[in-house]
Amino acid sequence: MTKKNKITNCWVCKNNINAFMSFGPMPIANGFLTQEQFKNEYFFEMEVAFCDHCKMFQLVNQPKPEQMFNENYAFFSGTSKLMGLHFKEFANHVINDYLNVVKNPFVVEIGSNDGIMLKHFAQQGIRHLGIEPSANVAKVAMDQGINTIVEFFDKSLAEKIVSEHGQADAYVAANVMCHIPYINSIVEGIKVLLKQDGIIMFEDPYFGNVMQKTTYDQIYDEHTFLFTVHSIQYLFNQFDMEVIDVEPQKSHGGSMRYVIAHKGAKPVQADVYKQLEHERELGLTESATYEKFRVNCEQYRTNLLGLLNDIKSKGKSISGYAATSKSTTIINYCGITTDHLDCIYDTTPIKQGKLSPGAHIPIVDYAKFKDNYPDYALLFGYNHEKEIMAKEQNFIQQGGMWITYVPEVKII
Ligand code: SAH
Ligand code: TYD
Ligand code: ZN
Repeated sequence: MTKKNKITNCWVCKNNINAFMSFGPMPIANGFLTQEQFKNEYFFEMEVAFCDHCKMFQLVNQPKPEQMFNENYAFFSGTSKLMGLHFKEFANHVINDYLNVVKNPFVVEIGSNDGIMLKHFAQQGIRHLGIEPSANVAKVAMDQGINTIVEFFDKSLAEKIVSEHGQADAYVAANVMCHIPYINSIVEGIKVLLKQDGIIMFEDPYFGNVMQKTTYDQIYDEHTFLFTVHSIQYLFNQFDMEVIDVEPQKSHGGSMRYVIAHKGAKPVQADVYKQLEHERELGLTESATYEKFRVNCEQYRTNLLGLLNDIKSKGKSISGYAATSKSTTIINYCGITTDHLDCIYDTTPIKQGKLSPGAHIPIVDYAKFKDNYPDYALLFGYNHEKEIMAKEQNFIQQGGMWITYVPEVKII
């Protein structure tokens, strides 16, 4: 069943927007399912738009948050060791550069998941609160003694937190701000929550990288937005807050960390102006660039499907590696089926034994990869390439070959 739930106004500035591209019917990206669930599988038309006024790249329609974030949420942050180190660095950055001068500081994180970042504050005895609506992942954090509430953050929850705990010195988030369609309410909530000299630090996949590398797989149901410094600046300026620093990250194929404060509270670093200039040079503020992006996506689809068909026509086997959310877009947009991939290997227990959203490709425990090496493995987890290559060296030694599609479709 395909549901249309199109908006014609920008989520941020309410300007009229028109979709410049459709990726076709898409299932819930993390909606790994059993055969019995096929008949009720949810699909929506995944269309994207660029708002010429506030410069926000966004989904035009989307499933409801509760359909994606609930007690069956399949993404456990702790599955990546390298991301564990990444979030330790993030937490220490906040502590050393902002909280050390504050007496009895209070940190709030939204989308705290299994506690991958918040535990570093908790371990140092810092007052903290995680807001995490997916009960199963939140439980992992709570079981470690990390203070967590199972709720969706918004303005009214922010008011409740302030009345119970007081205002926060730091608001942190990773890979969640871009997930929230009612983003204005989130920013209004932050304004209520944050002390006058408090700090906001969050990171999300960066549209500049997505555009440059045509990593259109960052577009899926959960990602209402793909941010740029321009769009984030507009979003926060609406509520008298401003971007004071930007820090590019390698995570998730290229992310941006934004440091934000109440207007005038802290100096704006030169890197903000440099990145804004860089974005203008990349054309991220122009509609024509997004049209070019559409053409590039179509070319990538042709190239990947062509390569897979070619390999199959020679009678070779292909498996997927890492059943990422991102792979749902690649598989369903490119038309990859069980005729192409025997299965997808993955480390997440909740995904193993289930079938992939839309194309219904079996998900198999990664430990079985070595028992049955395919001729080719399609690397859906390219953002974890280092970690995966390190543990799967034997595959190459046995004559196996990796296929990637970032930054171009090729065999490595
Ligand atoms: N921060 C982690 C998890 C990112 S996944 C990391 O970077 O690895 C996004 C998480 O945000 C999910 O766990 C989801 O349940 C949560 N989430 C979604 N909407 C939210 C909201 N409105 N408030 C708080 N958390 C939310
Ligand atoms: P990630 O890119 O973090 O997630 P998403 O696209 O969903 O945001 O990928 C997480 C998935 O990759 C998860 O299902 C586990 C899998 N994975 C492996 O199978 N092996 C690995 O070594 C790593 C790091 C991840
Ligand atoms: Zn707008």
